[in-house]
Amino acid sequence: MRVLVTGGAGYIGSHTVLQLLQEGLQVSVIDNFSNSSPESLRRVVGIAGQNLDAYQIDLLDTSRLTQAVCEIKPDAVIHFAGLKAVGESVSQPLKYYKNNVVGTLNLLEAMDEAECRTIVFSSSATVYGDSTDLPLRENTPRNATNPYGRTKLHIEEMLEELAASDSRWRIANLRYFNPVGAHESGLIGEDPQGIPNNLMPFVAQVAIGKRTEVQVFGGDYSTADGTGVRDYIHVLDLAAGHLAALDYLSNAQGVHVWNLGSGAGSSVLEVIDAFARISGRSVPYQITDRRPGDVAESYAHPEKARLDLGWKAERGLEQMVEDMWRWQSKNPDGFPEVAMEFLHQDELALFISGNQKLPSTD
Ligand SMILES: NC(=O)c1ccc[n+]([C@@H]2O[C@H](COP(=O)([O-])OP(=O)(O)OC[C@H]3O[C@@H](n4cnc5c(N)ncnc54)[C@H](O)[C@@H]3O)[C@@H](O)[C@H]2O)c1
Repeated sequence: MRVLVTGGAGYIGSHTVLQLLQEGLQVSVIDNFSNSSPESLRRVVGIAGQNLDAYQIDLLDTSRLTQAVCEIKPDAVIHFAGLKAVGESVSQPLKYYKNNVVGTLNLLEAMDEAECRTIVFSSSATVYGDSTDLPLRENTPRNATNPYGRTKLHIEEMLEELAASDSRWRIANLRYFNPVGAHESGLIGEDPQGIPNNLMPFVAQVAIGKRTEVQVFGGDYSTADGTGVRDYIHVLDLAAGHLAALDYLSNAQGVHVWNLGSGAGSSVLEVIDAFARISGRSVPYQITDRRPGDVAESYAHPEKARLDLGWKAERGLEQMVEDMWRWQSKNPDGFPEVAMEFLHQDELALFISGNQKLPSTD
């Protein structure tokens, strides 16, 4: 089976590509590397000892995209490629609608042309907006509150309408909660460009000394310690959810939706404490005003994924932080900019050999 992974060089994509390779599947990646480095793929193939084809293509480049998808002839697509910064989506909404919605539309057309109609889509718990009806279930009404969230909502709707129009489509909308952590090797992990948008990478950068303190937005919520509570999920558990969804789609047509979350939340102060303890570093923080639009708590009802997919989050906060710290301390500046050594380079694809020399993990 050949799986095309869009955005496969990114944070969640690279961990999922690794698991696909480790399961013995053939993998092709399409990524424009706008928020990632091909170095992540070089490391992934080195860990797996398997090869993959990587295509540097933008989903907005319809002709190269269609050419590549027809050349790859995937049996299924896992679609991670997208922009994900909520704040940036508010200041540049059109960039988000174009990249995420139009990019997905182009991908679906290219898939149709290549006769591949199975797709696992990276949706987000952000489609639940500021719902306080906890835990969040797949049938909780969707109500995204920012342009990024609305791109996810529009794509979910587009996929539902597509499946309704043509029963050959097999679609999984996976709503992720808060992905964190890294592969246990410390070789791949999240490599945010600029100031991290999410709490955990920010805390990691404070612990390593790249930033001075964590700003905690709101200390007077009605939670146990007054700070916001979120459902963190280890990126390896999340990656496993994609493989389970792919497996499910092999026997199921139509659209299927699953929350991928742990079902429990951790507060901001719990995350900071865990990081300080595990890293042995001090993590200074300051409690400031609440951020407009933030809810006190958000966590998944993860039962549907357990029942349908036999999937559940296995790793707890300690392991998330340990793995994140290992990645952060071994790679304080993220992935290095290195020249890629490709075995051959044809018109579209770069073939990355599994025979890669990896950095020491001592
Ligand atoms: N990380 C999270 O907190 C989170 C939560 C919920 C949902 N998601 C969704 O999961 C997906 C993956 O997230 P991630 O954290 O791995 O992000 P990421 O930025 O690390 O990965 C996204 C990848 O897509 C690529 N990309 C973006 N636009 C592209 C385009 N037009 N053409 C080709 N490649 C393109 C980027 O270069 C990057 O490699 C995204 O769709 C994101 O919205 C992420």
